[in-house]
Amino acid sequence: MIALRTVPDHIVRPPYARPGGETGERPGLIKSDALIGRMRRAGRVAREVLDEVLAAVAIGVTTDELDRVCHEVTIAKGGYPSPLDYRGFPKSLCTSINEVVCHGIPSARRLVDGDIINCDVTVYLDGVHGDCSETVFVGTPSLVHKVLVERTYEALRRGIEIVRPGVRFNEIGRAIERYVAPFGYGIVREFGGHGIGELFHMPPNIVHAYERRERLKMQAGMTFTIEPMLNVCDPRCAILADGWTAVTVDGKASAQFEHTVLVTPDGHEVLTLCADPRPFFQR
Ligand code: MF3
Ligand code: CO
Ligand code: CO
Repeated sequence: MIALRTVPDHIVRPPYARPGGETGERPGLIKSDALIGRMRRAGRVAREVLDEVLAAVAIGVTTDELDRVCHEVTIAKGGYPSPLDYRGFPKSLCTSINEVVCHGIPSARRLVDGDIINCDVTVYLDGVHGDCSETVFVGTPSLVHKVLVERTYEALRRGIEIVRPGVRFNEIGRAIERYVAPFGYGIVREFGGHGIGELFHMPPNIVHAYERRERLKMQAGMTFTIEPMLNVCDPRCAILADGWTAVTVDGKASAQFEHTVLVTPDGHEVLTLCADPRPFFQR
């Protein structure tokens, strides 16, 4: 059992991290203008925290140190680090290195030259969550890692690009699959994007590969994440004994990028952007 980092009393916790636990309420898929205003702020803060975490990535740094940065910066901005105590997750940040697909648990593992690491930050602020992640290089990447990361970012960009009212949710996966097929990458299906707002994860579930049977269409006011995970080869994952860490079954690398997106009347707005819209690895 890992001792959880502490959160000061003035920080409002999400229901799952309160003594009473979660209520059974199911919030709607279309957000009110007031809720959207709160989501813009939660999204912006999540992005600011992610930028500080990524700036701390360096050879020799432990993932626990990145977790500490995430935890302290989130609290300093008045937010709660959503992963902490979410369904038993023990840390405030997810750190997924190399063959880890997602949900890596920060530890004493030190970053070494040539690693790629995804840092996934979610912040609960003013009753809503904002969720974003990026993959960055530690030192100098191999060519395989470099192009994987660049193409995964482009896959996210292409998934976001098609978002507007009336579009079926499976167009996201279709756009991503069309783009990555020539590279022979495996698109992870076991984890997907998700509706987000008052809840960390809520409908719809967004598959990043083409899903024929999906009928649901986007409507203005919906908020959800797009967060493709691309594996160098095999798309399948295995979960380690810690119950969280998802790894590729072939041990080869995986990369991921994530944004929280709002459907607007004439297109979309990315809620987890700030002043510099470029991903960290391009700055
Ligand atoms: N942030 C992740 C996502 O994009 C979820 C992490 S769940 C946790 O959906 F418990 F591992 F934090
Ligand atoms: Co997410
Ligand atoms: Co996330």
